[in-house]
Amino acid sequence: MASSYSSSLSFPNFTLWLWLFLTGMASAQLTNNFYAQTCPNFSSVIQTAVNSAVKSEARMGASLLRLHFHDCFVNASLHFITSFFVSLDGCDASVLLDDTASFTGEKTAGPNSNSLRGFGVIDTIKSQLETSCKSVVSCADILAVAAKDAVVALGGPSWNVAVGRRDSTTASLSAANSNLPSPTSSLSGLITAFSNKGFNAKEMVALSGSHTIGQARCTTFRTRLYNENVNSSLATSLKANCPSSGSDNILSPLDATSPTSFDNAYFKNLQIQKGLLHSDQQLFSGGSTDAQVNTYSSNSATFSTDFANAMVKMSNLSPLTGSNGQIRTNCRKTN
Ligand code: HEM
Ligand SMILES: *[C@@H]1O[C@H](CO)[C@@H](O)[C@H](O)[C@H]1NC(C)=O
Ligand SMILES: *[C@@H]1O[C@H](CO)[C@@H](O)[C@H](O)[C@H]1NC(C)=O
Ligand SMILES: *[C@@H]1O[C@H](CO)[C@@H](O)[C@H](O)[C@H]1NC(C)=O
Repeated sequence: MASSYSSSLSFPNFTLWLWLFLTGMASAQLTNNFYAQTCPNFSSVIQTAVNSAVKSEARMGASLLRLHFHDCFVNASLHFITSFFVSLDGCDASVLLDDTASFTGEKTAGPNSNSLRGFGVIDTIKSQLETSCKSVVSCADILAVAAKDAVVALGGPSWNVAVGRRDSTTASLSAANSNLPSPTSSLSGLITAFSNKGFNAKEMVALSGSHTIGQARCTTFRTRLYNENVNSSLATSLKANCPSSGSDNILSPLDATSPTSFDNAYFKNLQIQKGLLHSDQQLFSGGSTDAQVNTYSSNSATFSTDFANAMVKMSNLSPLTGSNGQIRTNCRKTN
């Protein structure tokens, strides 16, 4: 009896230990006071730069938010723990790396190419931080804090960004192509893409509320515009800028009502067939997420709270910590 008792526990105990070890290695080390001794001003440097960038161009707030999302959702580098266990890294600034002879970075991936922006603002922040706190603040932390400051600058909610992320030494074009959701995704495709990263459908809907700010190119919504049920008043104005062929890069706001204000108008638009992307309108198309759209449409405080909580979760997607990765001195290149 005694031996069967102990053997029935030993394997689960080992599994539990392994799980604690792996998750501890991967994500338990972000803290609020990580730079308290080494760079106490890091957050005000980032906030000042983000505010000034958003003041000169409101869309930059949207671009900075998206940059962080596209960093965190991509398993760019495989990092080996004790040479056996592989961890897939998320918020590791891999999105910022330019191509090199040894790898093709993520900037030319389908969802990023000719689309992601804000790299110059991150470079400015990094060079300011290198001046005051040399080789201390990671590019991955800059992205996480800048995304929060960008949302706040456009009138959205704030959240706590714990820090201590480190930067990857590689990037993955194929992971960027396969991990990021597509504007042609169905509702079930969206739910799967987010579920692969540990988010439920409610969190997916809240995070999609990011499309209350920013712009999209004609090429990303043309098929919806000419083939689906788009509210006729919106369709008329969109067609003027997005003809059935050509003008692929001409921009339209994701939220035509208030494109530079982080509010819940995105959800109100979905209720009247004014979603810009096919993927946006999928959230309110008679399916399982309609009720959540209705909730966020009628209660902006609930949206703000759920969005902020989901952003905390996104910002914590398997960062590199401890002695893994590095602190890049130039966010575009490994040291
Ligand atoms: C739900 C699945 C999602 C899909 C399919 C999607 C797709 C897209 C597409 C196609 C664009 C336009 C890109 C272009 O034309 O250049 C865009 C823009 C944007 N996305 Fe998403 N997105 C999704 C979720 C998210 C999430 C979770 C966030 C942030 C947490 C986000 C933030 C943004 C922002 C802020 C913009 C505007 C960027 C700018 O103006 O520079 N998106 N998205
Ligand atoms: C740090 O921040 C304080 C107050 O925000 C400011 O007075 C000081 O000049 C800053 N120092 C640096 C090096 O940026
Ligand atoms: C990325 O990581 C997630 C877990 O976070 C996993 O489900 C997914 O299969 C991975 N994708 C790739 C391409 O490695
Ligand atoms: C289209 O939008 C208008 C408001 O601009 C709204 O009154 C109308 O109900 C919408 N149509 C549909 C089919 O949702």
